[in-house]
Parts: sequence; C-alpha cells; structure tokens
Amino acid sequence: MTPAVAKAFKALHAHRTKTGDLSLRTLFAEDPKRFQSLSFSGAGLHLDASKNLITDKTLALLIALAEAAGVKARAKAMFAGDVVNITENRAVLHTALRANGASRAKVDGVAVDPLISAELERFLAFAEDVRSGRTAAADGKPFTDVVNIGIGGSDLGPAMATLALAPYADGPRLHFVSNVDGAHLADTLKGLDPARTLVLIASKTFTTQETMANARAAEACMRKALKDKAGQHFAALSTAREKVVAFGIDPVRMFGFWDWVGGRYSIWSAIGMPVAIAVGAARFREFLAGARAMDLHFLKARPEKNLPLLLALIGIWNRNILGFAAHAVLPYEQRLSRFAAYLQQLDMESNGKRVGIDGKPVTLATGPLVFGEPGTNGQHAFYQLLHQGTDVIPADFLIGAEGHEPDMAGQHALLIANCLAQTEALMKGRTLEEASAQLKSAGLPSAEVNRLAPHKVFPGNRPTNTIFYAKLDPAVLGALIALYEHKVFVQGVIWGINSFDQWGVELGKELASSLQPMVEGRTKPTGRDSSTAGLIKALARLVKLDAAKKETDR
Ligand code: F6P
Repeated sequence: MTPAVAKAFKALHAHRTKTGDLSLRTLFAEDPKRFQSLSFSGAGLHLDASKNLITDKTLALLIALAEAAGVKARAKAMFAGDVVNITENRAVLHTALRANGASRAKVDGVAVDPLISAELERFLAFAEDVRSGRTAAADGKPFTDVVNIGIGGSDLGPAMATLALAPYADGPRLHFVSNVDGAHLADTLKGLDPARTLVLIASKTFTTQETMANARAAEACMRKALKDKAGQHFAALSTAREKVVAFGIDPVRMFGFWDWVGGRYSIWSAIGMPVAIAVGAARFREFLAGARAMDLHFLKARPEKNLPLLLALIGIWNRNILGFAAHAVLPYEQRLSRFAAYLQQLDMESNGKRVGIDGKPVTLATGPLVFGEPGTNGQHAFYQLLHQGTDVIPADFLIGAEGHEPDMAGQHALLIANCLAQTEALMKGRTLEEASAQLKSAGLPSAEVNRLAPHKVFPGNRPTNTIFYAKLDPAVLGALIALYEHKVFVQGVIWGINSFDQWGVELGKELASSLQPMVEGRTKPTGRDSSTAGLIKALARLVKLDAAKKETDR
C-alpha cells in the first residue's frame, strides 16, 4: 500500500471513530433530501445509495482514497492497452470490444480497433446466417437448437445474457453445457435432434479439461447420429486456432478473440455468439452500445457522480472500514437469475486475492463473498439471515420500472413493492417497543407480548444499494455488466491487487489431472494424504458393490 493510500484509509478510520455507529433512521429523519443527494444516474442506470451507512463526508473521504490510489490514471492505462495484467504480461482491453471502432487502444504498437471490427462483423454474420438458415445443418435445413459448451467466462456471460434477453430472442433455442458431470450434457442433448443442432465449443484456451471432455463427448454423440457430416454441426469460439483445428473444426467456423480479453470479460467478443444467435446482430450491437455508454460515463463523469466509482467506494467502506465480509446481489428480475453466478466469477475471480501487485501479502481485506438469488425467491430462503442474522450483509437490489409481460394481476407492482419493502425493512428494522406495540394491538396478553417481542425485533441499519432502470433491454444489460466490471476494477486498484489473473484456480486443476488416473484405477493412489487416498478407494469400493448387486439382481 502506498503512503498516500495508507493515509487516505487512516482518514476513513478516524472518520468512522468520530461518527461512531451511524443510524440510517436518524440520517433519513434529519435530511428529507437524502434520497436526492445520494442518487446518481448514468448510461440508463440509476443508483440510490442513500440507504448506506455514509454521510457526505464519508463520500468525500472515499473519493480522496480513489484519488490517492490513482484510479483515474489506472483506468486510462487499461483503456489505452497498457499491460495492466502484470502477472500474465497482458493488456486488458474488453472495453475496446464495445467501443465501435473508437477505442484507439494499441497492443505492442498495433491498433486493436480494426481487428475487433473485422472479427465482430465475421461472428455477427455467422450468427445471422444461423438465424436465417443460410448456415444450415448437414441436410440443408435450418438449425433449431444451439448448444454452447464452455465453462467459467465461456459459459456464465452468454448463459446469463441469453436468459436476461429472452424477450428479444427470435432465433434458434440456446442451451448451455458447462459441468463436466456427464449429466449436464446428457440432460441437455436428451430433448434435441442432432440433425437440427449446432454445437459451439467455447473456450479461450481450448485446453480447459471440463470443456474439452464435454466437447469430445458431444462430438461422439453427433458423429454417432450424423456420421461424417457431424463436422458441419460444430463451430468454435476461441483464441487457440491450432488447437481448434487439431480438434477437427474447420477454421472457417472458428471465431476468435485475443489474449487481452480475460475469460470473465469475454462476453463482448465472439464468446457472445450465443447471445447474437438468440437475439440477432442489431440487438447485440445495442448490448455493446449500452456497455460503451457506461465506459464513457466511467471515464468522464465527475467522481461525485460516477456510478461504478461510487459503487466500488461504498463497497470498500463496507468491507474495509465497517468489516462486512459478504455482499448479496438481489435482482428483482427473474431473467437475471444467473446474474449473481456471473458476478461471482467477475468479482471473486478478479478480487479474491491475498497478494498485492508487489508480490507481498496484502494488509487489508480484499473481495467479499458474493452471492444472490432473484427476489422474491430469496425472500423465502435466506433473507431471514439478512434481516435478523448476527452478520450484516450489504446488498445490491436491482429492479426495472417495467417488465416485458402484460401485467395481468398487478405482478410487477407487487415485485417493485417487495423490492422496496426489503430495502426499507433492512434500513429501518423494528425496535422492541414497536414489536411490543404491534403484539399488544393484536390483543395478546402482556406475558405473551414480552415472550414474543424479542423474536420480532429487526436491528435494521443494514446497508443496501438500489440499482434501477426503465426496462431490462439489451443496452441496459450491457450497461449493468459494465457497471460491475468497473466497480471490480476500481476496488482492485485500491486494494493494490491484479484483478485480471486467476492463479487461484490452477492448483485444483493440476491435482485433478494427476488424480484422474488414480480414480480410474490405472495407477495407485500413492503419495497422497490418507483422506484423498481413502476417498479414492472408498468410492471405487462403492462402484464394485453396485456392480456386484446388479450381478446378483440379474
Ligand atoms: O476458471 C478458470 C478459468 O480460467 C476462467 O478464468 C475462464 O473463464 C474459464 O477457466 C474457462 O477458460 P477457457 O475459456 O479457456 O476454457
């Protein structure tokens, strides 16, 4: 941590000590204009940050922290194509993918805009050809179904966005297979006709174990059904041309991107192909434009009005000064039901780091545990803990003013009412006096009132953001994703970590490779700890017992 950042953090801690425990009830009572002064807008999104445990002074000190950390300069460096991913020696240029030829970024002295435009046109043309039937199945008939095989960034983004934009989908049906559990592929292929199905193998590296295993299994299924015509039913989304060719996919059907596009930031590249096939090229361009609008807002808006910056800084306040270790993302939008999963990779793979850019252990807490479910479902599952648990969990609530469906029974008003009710309840809580008064007015005897009232107390004072928009259309979705990308970026800069590598996923991958032959019984589990070796043997024993039982049953 630089001395300037340390000083800014010290000022924030001193401010916290001086203000003591703020009360949201009091802050709202004292300032009837709190909503107006703590609401911000940009790129079609609106943020109500007023239900956070902050004052104007807090925000000023947080903005000073961002300045001390050099967030603005780092953002400029990222957008320009500097090598900001220092452990992988790479530029980070997902923002150029949505700049519509205006990024002016260079990598090794080469302008990226022309490369991006050419590949975008290629993959959108392919998407349109699949939609129209110009690119057809081996029998010349159109594809009705498309299966995307990929994992992590090669699955979560397209799967989340395809679902989010379902009202705009007018192309073939999209399906996503990610888990190496054979059940995922089997269940997906079960209802599909191979003769009508296109398979996209999505993998930046084309080496990811799970994706390659699923790709080989899918290839075997398709070959069984279509014989030597199966190749016409495959396309690849990847940066690894040679590996794609070695797999047997014609490079004409390979759509590329570059090492300066991180997996979890790759939805804007050819990895977005499933979205483009579902909603068409024009809608996909609107999606890119929405993200670009947020990029420009992030670069140009003043810090006091800058949505991603403020969201990041409030997160820093909650995590580092107030000490809250988790963060919930709660979209009141059924079609964002994969959004929390998407954000888990974006946030936790980016900022779940314990070593700084300088290679030394960090001295403050970094990324929080991110989780969530769409409202109102989450309300009937884990909100009990949000309201009355012993931990305070800050949350982002997401809501559209309108849905896409005709509102036949006041459902959308009820959805909004629930969203607002939750943030109000988390903010206000309910005191013992209020709980007792409510029970008394329900006619309960005073012994019962005293017995039950403590259980009905809500501590409140639990911070939330509400992010709202007119309607979840392609541009709004693009802006929403970019908002969170930049939030994660800002936090990474302040924590002094590299948000763009992911070494933490490597050890498990290595161990899985060496364990596979042991699990298959090809080698002995020697050199492993007794738990791992014991589990291998115990699982193998269960397989044998099952086989023996089947034998006796026959
Ligand atoms: O989980 C690790 C990871 O490397 C992610 O960063 C990436 O999105 C995912 O695996 C898939 O990688 P690939 O697209 O190369 O198959």
